[in-house]
Amino acid sequence: MDRIIVRGGNPITGSVQVRGAKNSTLPLMAATLLAEDTCVLHNVPCLHDVFAMDKILSEMGMAIDFTGRSMTLGPNSVTSHEAPYELVRKMRASFFVLGPLLGRFGQARVSLPGGCAIGTRPVDIHLKGLESLGVNIRIDDGYVVAEGRPVGADIALDFPSVGATENLMMAASRAKGVTRLTNVAREPEIADLASFLNSLGAQISGAGTDLITILGVDELGGTEHTVIPDRIEAGTFLIAGIATGGEVTVLNATAEHLPNFVEKLREMGAEVEVHGSKIRAAATNGLKGVDVSTQPYPGFPTDLQAQIMALACVAEGATIIKENVFENRFMQVAELTRMGANIEVDGNAAVVRGVPKLSGAPVMASDLRASAALIIAGLTASDGETSISRIYHIDRGYERIEERLASLGGDIRREP
Ligand code: EPZ
Repeated sequence: MDRIIVRGGNPITGSVQVRGAKNSTLPLMAATLLAEDTCVLHNVPCLHDVFAMDKILSEMGMAIDFTGRSMTLGPNSVTSHEAPYELVRKMRASFFVLGPLLGRFGQARVSLPGGCAIGTRPVDIHLKGLESLGVNIRIDDGYVVAEGRPVGADIALDFPSVGATENLMMAASRAKGVTRLTNVAREPEIADLASFLNSLGAQISGAGTDLITILGVDELGGTEHTVIPDRIEAGTFLIAGIATGGEVTVLNATAEHLPNFVEKLREMGAEVEVHGSKIRAAATNGLKGVDVSTQPYPGFPTDLQAQIMALACVAEGATIIKENVFENRFMQVAELTRMGANIEVDGNAAVVRGVPKLSGAPVMASDLRASAALIIAGLTASDGETSISRIYHIDRGYERIEERLASLGGDIRREP
């Protein structure tokens, strides 16, 4: 099993290009099921989760050519309306095929995704919304069996779930009549998906606000679309620069997609400058602990919680981190503690007391963002070597992260 070996002490310094957003690419790929003609996606990241979605769609019959960073998808050869358990269990975002299958074919058999390290991750909001669209839903042997062409309806989501907002938007795009979705997710990836669907011929307005209105259409064509930059990857690199006393400029970020995050880094005492599509972050001579509370967008992103925890480990004073989105997203705490961090967890709150230094240690990745936190901690450690196992977690969401951090001065390598 591959491991990543890190020796800390080098400042992470330089410019880096972030890749296309994983959490946009995956729903966009699923949305091509709604199209009647070829779709081309540009700026597609080479990630294990993207390969997993490719496999699921290919097994349905989608013709996919993924060359470089462009992916061409041909939906006219889709024959299967099923997403099997052995594929869905490996990647929860596979569940995003449910909405488009119903929108295009009026039928779907998709395995329930099951839980993962960060929580049970139910799909009740997805299913309740689809039933509101008149779809018949039953659970059979761990599969969602759904039948019926969606009919427009007014739906208020119980929680602004990103995936449920996306599934419902896709199902409603080819429904009969008008759908109004409220209490929806407002993440930038929602607007990217709406823009893609509208370029196919859908009639969606309000993405990014609290009310999304969708006028269902009978047919959607094909299109070309460029995936937005990955704001979570951008934030991860910025934190790595600050935590190691370096200076990182992310070249193609969209600062508006990280509103609360940029403010929080400044509150900690980091220097953060935004120049158009560039964000530059640098350590200063005194990082201090702050309070962080994860929230749906535009609040502090849960996907950057583990990374800012790693930064807080070496800040002066205490940082209180509240994880309000997932019920079990402190998997990095035990491993950071092994590296000398001082962290106390009480329910969904973690109190991080800054320590003068972290030390390298053998640690284990548990989920995608916890893995990124361990790499940041390893780069920050002032002595010892950090050996991170189970790094398949990190390959799901970061493209060759060790090579890119090494190009920024990090002493980091992958060991087979
Ligand atoms: C998306 O997951 C992202 N994944 C996650 O990124 C991200 O953390 C999350 O949104 C929140 O921003 C992709 O886009 C592929 P949710 P999703 O539905 O859609 C509960 C990463 O690291 N919930 O907004 O699954 C759920 O349990 C990944 O890149 C229900 O209770 O997230 C969670 O506590 C991790 N019932 C909360 O809502 C439902 O039907 C937020 O989940 C759906 C969700």
